[in-house]
Amino acid sequence: MEPGAWVVSAVSRREFRFREKVVSYRLLIFVFLVMSCFPLRAGEDEGEPELLRGPYLQGLNETSVEVIWLTSEAIEGRIRCVGPDERILEVTGPLSSNHRLRLDGLSPASRYSYSIYSGEDILAQGDHLRFRTAPPAGEGTLRAVVVGDSGTGSVAQARVGGVMEGLEPDLFLHTGDLIYSRSLDSAVFLPYRNLLSGTCFIPSRGNHDFNLARMDLEWRDVFTVPNDDNERTGVYYSYDWGPAHFTVLDYIFIHSDFSAQLEFIEQDLAAARQRGVRWLIIYQHLPIYTAGSYANYSHPIRQLLPELCDRYGVDLVLSGHDHNYQRSYPVRERVLRDGWQDPVFERPRGTVYIVTGGGGGVLYGELDGARDRSFIHTFQSVHHCVVLDISAGELRTRALDSDGELVDEFRIRKQGLHPSLPFLRGDANLDGTVDIGDAIMTLGFLFLGESLPCPAAADSTGEGIHLVITRPIYTLRFLFMGGPPPPDPFPFCEPAAGADDAFCYEVGC
Ligand SMILES: [Fe+2]
Repeated sequence: MEPGAWVVSAVSRREFRFREKVVSYRLLIFVFLVMSCFPLRAGEDEGEPELLRGPYLQGLNETSVEVIWLTSEAIEGRIRCVGPDERILEVTGPLSSNHRLRLDGLSPASRYSYSIYSGEDILAQGDHLRFRTAPPAGEGTLRAVVVGDSGTGSVAQARVGGVMEGLEPDLFLHTGDLIYSRSLDSAVFLPYRNLLSGTCFIPSRGNHDFNLARMDLEWRDVFTVPNDDNERTGVYYSYDWGPAHFTVLDYIFIHSDFSAQLEFIEQDLAAARQRGVRWLIIYQHLPIYTAGSYANYSHPIRQLLPELCDRYGVDLVLSGHDHNYQRSYPVRERVLRDGWQDPVFERPRGTVYIVTGGGGGVLYGELDGARDRSFIHTFQSVHHCVVLDISAGELRTRALDSDGELVDEFRIRKQGLHPSLPFLRGDANLDGTVDIGDAIMTLGFLFLGESLPCPAAADSTGEGIHLVITRPIYTLRFLFMGGPPPPDPFPFCEPAAGADDAFCYEVGC
């Protein structure tokens, strides 16, 4: 496994020991020279095994977890785990340098700490070696952190990693492109060392992650795919965690046959809906709605995935590939829904699409004239992570930058009834009256990129959600030149059968 990275690690330790001895024996130059030639090498050959990677967590569920670590030589790996009521669980593995020990018989929704050993010697211990098992399906709470496009080993990646570590999440999700460089350790296991030992890492695969094959590694050599199927060649899968169900897609190269994966997604979402899962979340690499660099990129998944989200009522889709943060309004059938509810959506009639590709790579900006810009609530070209706090009644989402400062926040709730839209047509700022402030706010949206609380209300003519200059002009003519008033506001218009307020608006009622 990546011998280059191991050699680098070993050399740096030798240098450190060397300098330590120089300081300690400064006055004994003769002795030092002798030691540097012979005794030092003898000391290194004493054979103390070193920890080369990990420990990191995989396959964490209600009752079990895998703890994985690599050592510089083959030894008998041992793990000692302390759970609720100080109950101790110990597992010893076979002689190996690649240790993959599974702890079974754990209690759901319980906190555990662990240490790993080589014989009686401790190889790793500390507060960061801990985990919480999953609550039973449909119950409890969950905190997950999400990043994408991180695999550079950059300072920004380390800083975002530090923010995530401080949040003590249960799960660490990744929207793909874990590795741009040659070494998996420099891109993943060193920057996230403490994070990976205390939270289960469940990544999706981006276009750059096929580089693992060049290292003679398969995805399954390094990561445990939840609910894996031996018949499946791609890395796509799904799992439940407490109140949420996650569906994870593989990267799809253009013109490749992904019919098997599409069939899996459809069956998986249908089954989850049938089980009454509260929250459906998909994460994968390609952005679906984006105003960034890939806004004009044509790929069938960008059309097919929203169709599935619409059909099964998916709550959230997280993607990467575009190196920035973007959050859409709820969207269904390519129409913005319930945007006026922002930032707390009660039973929104659409899926929220997030692009989280700012994990550490070079950042990408916004593309002028992007087709889907009107769907995007927030676009920030910053390094960041996304934090999901999920309970049965609420999905709270935050984006935090590399200083831990809040970039964006919204909530989706399923506690009450869907509220009716209280807008007055032309009342862009939702203050209950139509005045010059509404025209100014709409002009700010059109020409200065400012946001609107309710694009539907800003359309004073009732002609459509894609606002143009004629809307504020219409308002100004009404206010100051005796022009006609805006048409009736919702709910006085008659929506098409089965449509909601946004659709009603679209057909120009
Ligand atoms: Fe990518």
